[in-house]
Amino acid sequence: MKIGAISLAHPTLLAPLAGITNLPLRLLAKSAGCALVYTEMVSANGLVHGSVKTRQLLASVPEERPLAVQLFGGDADLLAEAARQVAAAGADIVDLNFGCAVKKILKSGSGVALMADLHNSERVLRAVRRAVAVPLTIKMRSGWEPSGSEALALGRLAQDCGVDAVALHPRTARQGFAGRADWALIARLKATLTIPVIGNGDIVSAGDAVRMLAQTGCDAVMIGRAAIGNPFIFSQVIDVLEGRAPQIPTSADRFRVMRAYAAATVAHLGETSACCMLRSQLGWFAKGLPQASQFRAAIHTIASGDEARPRIDAYEALLAQAERNT
Ligand SMILES: Cc1cc2nc3c(=O)[nH]c(=O)nc-3n(C[C@H](O)[C@H](O)[C@H](O)COP(=O)(O)O)c2cc1C
Repeated sequence: MKIGAISLAHPTLLAPLAGITNLPLRLLAKSAGCALVYTEMVSANGLVHGSVKTRQLLASVPEERPLAVQLFGGDADLLAEAARQVAAAGADIVDLNFGCAVKKILKSGSGVALMADLHNSERVLRAVRRAVAVPLTIKMRSGWEPSGSEALALGRLAQDCGVDAVALHPRTARQGFAGRADWALIARLKATLTIPVIGNGDIVSAGDAVRMLAQTGCDAVMIGRAAIGNPFIFSQVIDVLEGRAPQIPTSADRFRVMRAYAAATVAHLGETSACCMLRSQLGWFAKGLPQASQFRAAIHTIASGDEARPRIDAYEALLAQAERNT
């Protein structure tokens, strides 16, 4: 599959997840075979007004490329200027957020609020398209009402404005994350557009990913929550697509990935910031393992990034001991 001139090796993408798809997590996804990673949503307003924290979200390394940087905002000129800055900073793809349903974002006319205002959406799409030469994508929800007609209309508009691919999380704005994603709407969008359609929503296993590709005809799948602490899902999708049984990660694989995440977090953020992140994030990698809550409690008290290492070692030794005793 191609997005503009960018060829993707596999039809698997890591979804943008605010506070989660940081550089270390993206690197793990990438090394597991994910073809395209997205930053979390980045405020166009913050970028244009020189927020240092916002700019830090653009930090990248060559190993994770191609990289899509997702912008949110509601003002066409601000978004166009932010897109210019993002492209100048080296983003391979600029993505625009038409799907966030968080109140604060909606109040600013951003995210899925844009789906209720096709005129402003058109201004945004045309301004950003004029501003950058790199491929441009959008990520949207079903819209505000369940029929999905707003998503089909925005998809057509995006295509007319020169957008290179459209990702759809088929839940309405009011649904939040409740109920099930309506994969049939992904199929309808695919049948409506000629540009690539990326399906998203409720993929929790490699089997789901392959089912979404088959049921909807979408060009690629985007995985969000199921990839948190679990980059293996990307290699498992490739396994299934290539006719192999999906390889189940061993305990050693899981600890290898946990250590790689801790090391990358320290390397990219420095000891102090890494410590705060690791306290809350290392638990992602223990999901489903025995005594995970004790591990999370132990990690919560680390005072430096370096202190994470012996606690991971101790947890692995504890699990190995428990296994020997059974
Ligand atoms: C914690 C969290 C943060 C999210 N942040 C973003 C974001 O920054 N931009 C965006 O377009 N979608 C965001 N989403 C939506 C996801 O990208 C995705 O559309 C949604 O989780 C459905 O996919 P999934 O079932 O694979 O998780 C977020 C979702 C969650 C749970």
